[in-house]
Amino acid sequence: MLEWLKQPGFFGTHATLGADLSQLMATLFTGLFVIGWVQARRRAADRHHWLMLGGMVAMLAFFTSYYLFRQLGVLAVEGKAGFGGSQELYDHVFIPLLTIHIILVVIGLVMAIYMIVLGFRAQAFLNGKRVLKDALLQTSWARIGTIFGGVIAVVLLLFFARVATAGFSTRKLMVYLGLLLLVGIVLAVEIAIQRIWPNGERRHRALGRFTMIIYCILFVTGSTTYTMLYILFPGKIG
Ligand code: HEM
Repeated sequence: MLEWLKQPGFFGTHATLGADLSQLMATLFTGLFVIGWVQARRRAADRHHWLMLGGMVAMLAFFTSYYLFRQLGVLAVEGKAGFGGSQELYDHVFIPLLTIHIILVVIGLVMAIYMIVLGFRAQAFLNGKRVLKDALLQTSWARIGTIFGGVIAVVLLLFFARVATAGFSTRKLMVYLGLLLLVGIVLAVEIAIQRIWPNGERRHRALGRFTMIIYCILFVTGSTTYTMLYILFPGKIG
């Protein structure tokens, strides 16, 4: 599978098949989410629901399995050798761009799951029509505790399963601890956010817009990274 992903891609650039597949899927998913967003603005809530739910689940499935196969990104392994441009361009443009992209990927993944849950929690059916409930939507501390406890259990299970198959490393421990920290931060942010938007409908609309903006920036930074790496300044890989 890994070898198959390393074949030359289908866009005719210097990219591998894996990179082209990833770029194609990112384009399709971004397009799907923008259509889903337009549907929400037009009050076509049912279409919005299915587009967002289907799109987000498919996107999460694709990118998690893709990155599990490909391990960390090409550049994390190859470093500067993967980039054919100058050292200045690499240090001052490429790396900051890639860093922003990766930070947004993490926020985007968290928001995908968060928004799906919020969609279900905030919605209601009024005369058979899907709507957002114009009502208070709060998560109690007890509930947050249960969710975090559950997440800790799952992450620990994943960690020990990985250690059992691939051995222990401090790096691995840091990655899993980082994951837990991230979930902890999300839950803390949720507590803060529900003070700002206690109303479920307002929260879904405000955070939905925020999520969509993140996805649009993700698409632009991702496509720019692709263009720099595989069209403008191809390095040794390709
Ligand atoms: C997963 C990512 C999602 C994002 C980014 C998102 C984003 C949005 C945004 C931005 C709006 C407001 C549109 C506007 O007024 O400008 C909205 C409305 C809405 N969303 Fe979502 N949403 C998501 C998932 C869901 C899900 C899974 C459901 C249902 C379970 C849902 C149900 C609704 C409903 C019912 C509305 C109101 C539409 C109307 O005004 O009639 N959303 N969403």
